[in-house]
Amino acid sequence: MHAQDPSAQSLIDLGKRYWLPVYRPRDVVLDHGKGARVWDTQGRDYLDFGAGIAVNALGHQDPDLLEALTTQAHKLWHTSNVFYSEPPLHLAEELVSASGFAERVFLCNSGTEANEAAIKLVRKWAAAQGREADKRVIITFRGSFHGRTLAAVTATAQPKYQEGYEPLPGGFRYLDFNDVPALEAAFAQGDVAAVMLEPVQGEGGVLPAAPGFVQRVRELCDQYNALLVLDEIQSGMGRTGTLFAYVQDGAKPDIVTMAKALGCGFPIGAMLAGPKVAEVMQFGAHGTTFGGNPLAAAVARVALRKLSSPELLANVARQSQALRDGLARINQSLQLFEQVRGRGLMLGAVLNEANKGKAGAILDHAAAHGLLVLQAGPDVLRFVPALNISDEDLAEGLQRLEAALRSFIAG
Ligand SMILES: Cc1ncc(COP(=O)(O)O)c(C=O)c1O
Repeated sequence: MHAQDPSAQSLIDLGKRYWLPVYRPRDVVLDHGKGARVWDTQGRDYLDFGAGIAVNALGHQDPDLLEALTTQAHKLWHTSNVFYSEPPLHLAEELVSASGFAERVFLCNSGTEANEAAIKLVRKWAAAQGREADKRVIITFRGSFHGRTLAAVTATAQPKYQEGYEPLPGGFRYLDFNDVPALEAAFAQGDVAAVMLEPVQGEGGVLPAAPGFVQRVRELCDQYNALLVLDEIQSGMGRTGTLFAYVQDGAKPDIVTMAKALGCGFPIGAMLAGPKVAEVMQFGAHGTTFGGNPLAAAVARVALRKLSSPELLANVARQSQALRDGLARINQSLQLFEQVRGRGLMLGAVLNEANKGKAGAILDHAAAHGLLVLQAGPDVLRFVPALNISDEDLAEGLQRLEAALRSFIAG
């Protein structure tokens, strides 16, 4: 934000005064967006390479999403789960068919709720198998992020999100991501009910599962009669170049969780349940007032259709390569990254030794140069632009990034 910008400052002051101070947003007050661009209250434009944390996968103001939302807004906003409405019924059918494994869907409002439902489903399934409570362990991985409810934050194997919230729910075991021998040893204890993982760890640093890892997890789950739960909240909906990232891993899950780009900015989450678990939760076992809200479902149906299209997925592959090439070119002269990793349009530039811990400072320079980017921890710049981003917008974003990085280096 510019120092001479009193109206934005007075808005920011409201946040500082009245919000629970759990966030630390950049000093930018966004006003509107179109495609891969957003404008602040002063009319400055930004290329949006963060997309609301991998949410606005069709950019801002996609005409088809707008149409779906406004048409539904003129019909029916909410019924709760005591009556049917049409959009969530069709959405569930379409999610099942797109998934290639699921039989049933639970609709909710966010990622953490989808994961909470998944964790409860694992426990209910294990209980139905007659397993004692201490034999219902869920394995998760260090660096993961599964959300903020008490169970989801316990699944999140990162102490910084858990500190002070003890006592945490029991029955979770943390392992290093991609560590097969550790996984085999953990299964050998004979108490594992499920493994839960992100095919590409997002918040933990844009770290993909190693080739073959998810398949090995699947084999072990089959061998020990445990469930494979994939958190595709960030990696799903076309982000990695296929509708679901697990398609690239060649392993069929039992449960998949979705949110973020499912509503492209309208809050919605979903838990997809495969044949082993689809009938486990019966009447009264779980619920939510807003889940399957017709407004959210009407938007998500269009998002799902558009984000599954071959043209869109081809654009992800093309722009992924363009982004990788651009980052490599910038790095050739500036020498800031030790590695660029990720899949599709979920890429992370890992800062080299000399610049570790400086992702936040770089993001400040980026915003000042008209580019919104994210970090994934202190050492990784995270790029998750709209999946339909154009060649021109991507190129201009890279130019702004280079200018921002030069000003960061200049001090
Ligand atoms: C992989 C993953 N799981 C779960 C969540 C939590 O989703 P939400 O913030 O919608 O509760 C996130 C959010 O960043 C995520 O990236």
